[in-house]
Order: sequence, then structure tokens, then C-alpha cells
Amino acid sequence: MTIKRQKNLSNNAKVIWLTGLSGSGKTTIANHLKEKILNSGYAVQVLDGDVLRTGLNRDLGFTIKDRMENIRRVAEVAKLINDMGIFTITSFISPTKEMRNMAKTIIGVDKFIEVFVSTPLEICIKRDVKGLYKKAINGEIPHFTGISSPYEVPENPDIEIKTLESDIEESVNIIFDYLFK
Ligand code: ADX
Repeated sequence: MTIKRQKNLSNNAKVIWLTGLSGSGKTTIANHLKEKILNSGYAVQVLDGDVLRTGLNRDLGFTIKDRMENIRRVAEVAKLINDMGIFTITSFISPTKEMRNMAKTIIGVDKFIEVFVSTPLEICIKRDVKGLYKKAINGEIPHFTGISSPYEVPENPDIEIKTLESDIEESVNIIFDYLFK
């Protein structure tokens, strides 16, 4: 029998904005953090790049202009969800400062928590979980972040997760403690 979990709304619900390279670990952190927040009784939603790009944002590609529009829509949706009192975790490369600033403005400075999922490019290339870096390096995928399209490192993130130093449990705890301390 599955135990029904309480999903309380919260006036203090935030948008946890994960930014980082493809394959840096954003989705894994998002899903584990979601479980931890759920287990503490709060309502939580995850918005993930790979998922939203098959639905709401399926008309968009990877030029800077399309990524801006991707992030604008995601930020608007995140705001709607968060305004209901639901913790909202977003998992998008969101590669430029301009994109992240736009998201912060849409969502609200007091609600937006920027989390930089920091994994060195060489490691992402080495792991190549989805096999996309190999293709990008061979020129088969244009505008690939870190290869043929920029990633601007966040200068003042609220949290930086160094995935080479913290395992998944530690990484999630760092964010969770920031939210609930
Ligand atoms: S963002 O730049 O607009 O924020 P988003 O997070 O939605 O990107 O999508 C990134 C995911 O799309 C990657 O993890 C990867 O699976 C896939 N992808 C396909 N083409 C590209 C590309 N050219 N650059 C980066 N990611 C790509």
C-alpha cells in the first residue's frame, strides 16, 4: 500500500533555479531534492529542460534567441506554480547572465534562488551521458553549450554545488538546508 504524503502549500516556497552545463547533474539533483521536499510535507514541482522541450517549448531550438524564449516561458510558468505556494525546481542550462537575470526579474528577487551546478566541462565531455558532446565535437549538433555556444559562469550564485566534491546526498542537503534553515 502506498502511503499518501501530505503536500502542504507554503508562503515561503521558493523557485530553486538550477543552472549548469548539459550533463552537469541538474536533473539528478532536481529529482532528489524534489523527494526530500516532498518527504518534509511540502508541495513541489520540477520543470526540466529535456521534458519541457518536448511539449510547451517544442517549437524552440538552441540559438541564443530561442533559449531566451525558452527561459522566459519557463520563468513565467515557474512563477505561476510558485505563486500557489509550491516549491518549484527548474533544471535548465540557462547559459547566459541575461537569461538568468530575466528569470529572476519575472519570478521575483525574493523568491529566486540561483544554484550553480558546477561540473567542469572536461568531466561532462568525459561522462557524455547522452552522447551529445561527441556529436557536438564532431560538428553534428550546432550551437552546443560549452562546445560551440557559450556558458557564462554565474558570478554570485546563492549556492554553488561542486559535484566533484559533494555526492548527490550532500548536494541536496546543502540546498535543503538553505531553504529550511
Ligand atoms: S537552455 O540553454 O535553453 O536552458 P535546456 O536546458 O532547455 O537549454 O535544454 C538543454 C538540453 O537539451 C541538454 O541537456 C541536451 O539534452 C539537449 N540539447 C540538444 N541540443 C543542444 C544544444 N545545442 N545545446 C545544449 N543542449 C542541447
